[in-house]
Amino acid sequence: METAARTAPAAVIVAIDGPAGTGKSSTSKAVAAKLGLGYLDTGAQYRAITWWMVANGIDVEDAVAVADAAGKPAIVSGTDPVNPTITVDGTDVSGPIRTQEVTSRVSAVSAVPEVRAVITELQRTIAAEAPRGIVVEGRDIGTTVLPDADLKIFLTASPEVRAARRSGELKGKEAADLAATQAALAKRDALDSGRKTSPLAKADDAVEVDTSELTLDQVIECVVTLVEEKRTVA
Ligand code: DC
Repeated sequence: METAARTAPAAVIVAIDGPAGTGKSSTSKAVAAKLGLGYLDTGAQYRAITWWMVANGIDVEDAVAVADAAGKPAIVSGTDPVNPTITVDGTDVSGPIRTQEVTSRVSAVSAVPEVRAVITELQRTIAAEAPRGIVVEGRDIGTTVLPDADLKIFLTASPEVRAARRSGELKGKEAADLAATQAALAKRDALDSGRKTSPLAKADDAVEVDTSELTLDQVIECVVTLVEEKRTVA
């Protein structure tokens, strides 16, 4: 007779990378919830450390000052896909990290190697401790953070589709200006892809999924099928 331990699926690590507006967060959360896995939004961690720098009066363009402070804030991520949480030194920052102020500064902070070292370490610990496995979304997960992930997905979409999706997430005046949203996304992509330390990049062994013509449900279904195929082979 087989034991429960032998029949339970092994922990599975899924890396989902790609630029903003490709449906990364919605897809990652839904896939994790469907498969009973944990979920980690690594962009939220970079946003949280950026929020802390701004709140503590650190000039984010001063890479030395940012590097010196990188180890100070205690960032804690809750990995339930139905209710992901993020705190800094015990304060819930899930709202403040989505402001325009943080969004416009996060690329500068996340380009600092000392910041990436601290956050990468945190991400690896969280992934290693996820009992049933985890879906980790970001920019460098498949290439740098978890190069041995069981499955790597790289999501893309056309610039027009991405801007339209991002505008839909913003409220009021910000949402109305599609051209400005597209320009801001292009600027952030250029900074995130052009930085020296672990830039936004597709891993050689990642499956690329262009989501431009797909509904969210179709993308979720596609990723769930890919995870299940991996589990069957393993
Ligand atoms: O996914 P997001 O838009 O919330 O990410 C915010 C920023 O964080 C993004 O512009 C670049 C940075 N980031 C990163 O450098 N590496 C990651 N793994 C995730 C995000």
